[in-house]
This record gives sequence, structure tokens and C-alpha cells, in this order.
Amino acid sequence: MHLVRLKDWSSDDVLDAVERAIEVKRNPKQYAQAMVGRSLGLLFQKTSTRTRCAGEVGMAQLGGHALYMDWRSTNFGLADLGDEIRVLSRYVDLIVVRLLHHEDVVRAATAATVPLMNGCCNRYHPMQALADLMTIQESLGRLQGVRLTYVGVLNNVCNSLVAAGLKVGMHVTAVTPEVNAAAEDNELYSQAAAAGLFTRSDDLHGALKRSDVVYTDTWIDMEYFSDPAYEEEKDRRIRLFQPFQLNAALLAGLDLRIMHCLPAHRGYEIDGALLDDPRSIVFDQAENRMHGQKALILKLGGC
Ligand code: CP
Repeated sequence: MHLVRLKDWSSDDVLDAVERAIEVKRNPKQYAQAMVGRSLGLLFQKTSTRTRCAGEVGMAQLGGHALYMDWRSTNFGLADLGDEIRVLSRYVDLIVVRLLHHEDVVRAATAATVPLMNGCCNRYHPMQALADLMTIQESLGRLQGVRLTYVGVLNNVCNSLVAAGLKVGMHVTAVTPEVNAAAEDNELYSQAAAAGLFTRSDDLHGALKRSDVVYTDTWIDMEYFSDPAYEEEKDRRIRLFQPFQLNAALLAGLDLRIMHCLPAHRGYEIDGALLDDPRSIVFDQAENRMHGQKALILKLGGC
């Protein structure tokens, strides 16, 4: 069993992963030997704090070993991706890949002979969405019937929230003045809309008034944030998205939880003070990336 995108998972599997994550967080010692003698390979084409640390530390907490590989220091760039993944599958018991292109994640999963997890690509971020569900369940005590507004670029994170919502009965409203064309998944949006679990809206404040959760993400893809060649596009995005910034005035009087997958750009998509607002569950959400990843290691590892 792989985790390439949540769209391919059953509702039962999604809910099982969330329940396991909560259980692993509550009783970590019970799982301290679960992965003894087993290894997790982490192959990353992009930078990471949470996904990498959650994988390395999570696997260690399960008694196993984690092997981090920066794509550029391997021979993945020189050879056929499938061949290299087949070789890696001979060394490790599970694989996490963070690759630029979804098509490469699919190719890697097809070639892998051990379970493979998508640690974020241009279309989906399923491990993030599972940790997000876990955090909402912990904070609100339920998933079904929860109303979440996502504000920002319609991107990989939004897609995985929509897919997660579809599996657990959570409604997602997307206030997304810009669509990342590479991420667009109209089949997913149609499925979720037909189930009454996905709406697109231009009315941010109206959506927030009906929401239990507001969720935002960077306006600028992480690999471009510090790229001087991207300055003009960055300025355009900032002008376009400024009215959609989460700040105290926008959220005044609203009883909702504030979420962000991080890293946050304080003063851009979110006023920094909101990260520390009593309504913020952002740092629990970040911590839960590790419990969520441990749960996935156990589930896909057959424990
Ligand atoms: N949210 C997330 O995936 O964080 P990293 O990019 O730091 O792994």
C-alpha cells in the first residue's frame, strides 16, 4: 500500500490513519520497539523542516532507522528514477519522497517494491492533510460536518484538504483568487462538489462567518521565495493576495480555529500575531506532523 494521494484511499483508511496518529501520540512508549531493525528512506528534491524531521525523529521513536537523502547528493539525477527506486527498495522498508512533479511520485510508487509515501509534490501534500485532520479532530472533537475555509493559492495543500474532506465528511470552501495551474485537479473538485463538500467563493468574510476552521498557506511557492528572478511575480502575488491576509481585523469576533501548514511568512498570508492567538492551533498542527508520520509508518509498515 502506498500513499500517493488521498483521493486513492478509502474513507476507512483515512480515518484509521487519523485514529492511529492520535493513539500513537497518547501512548508513544507502546510503539517504541515497533520498527526495530527496519529502515525508512527519505528522498527529497526540495527543502523541508517538518516532513524531514517528522520522518527522521518519528522513525527513531519507533525504534527504527531513517536515511535522509538530498536528491542532489545521490545518483537519482543521473539514472532512471524507477531503477534507482527499485534499488532503494532493496535497502529500506519504507520510502518517503518529496519530489517536484507528481508524475515522478507516481513513477516512483510504480517502481517501489516497499510502501512509498508522498511527502509533498506540486499537486498533493497528503501527509500534511492527515496531520491536519488529526489536529482538527483533537481540537473540535469531530471531523464530519466541520466547515473549513482555505484561503490562498489553490495548490497542493488545498487539494489534499479537499480530498481529506471528501473522505471524512468535512466541507472545504476555497477562497483562492489564483490557481496554481500545475496543481489543478478538476476531477477532485467535481467529486467533492457533487458530495456537497467543496465550494469555491470570492467572499472571504462570508465564508469565515460559517467556518469552524480557517487555513492558509504561502502565497509564493517555497522554492521561489528567495529567488531574485521571481521578484516581479512575487510583487504581483503580494498585491493580489494582500486583501486576503489573515489578520486580527478580519477574524475579529469569529470563533474558529486558525491553521497554517508552515513555514509561515509573517506579515504576508498571516499577521504574525495570529500564530500566537488563542484560536491558533498551528503549532499543535506542526507537532502532529510527527505523530501522523509515525502512524503512517506503522500502517504502511503492516504494524
Ligand atoms: N508543511 C511542510 O510540509 O513543512 P516542510 O516543508 O518544512 O516539510
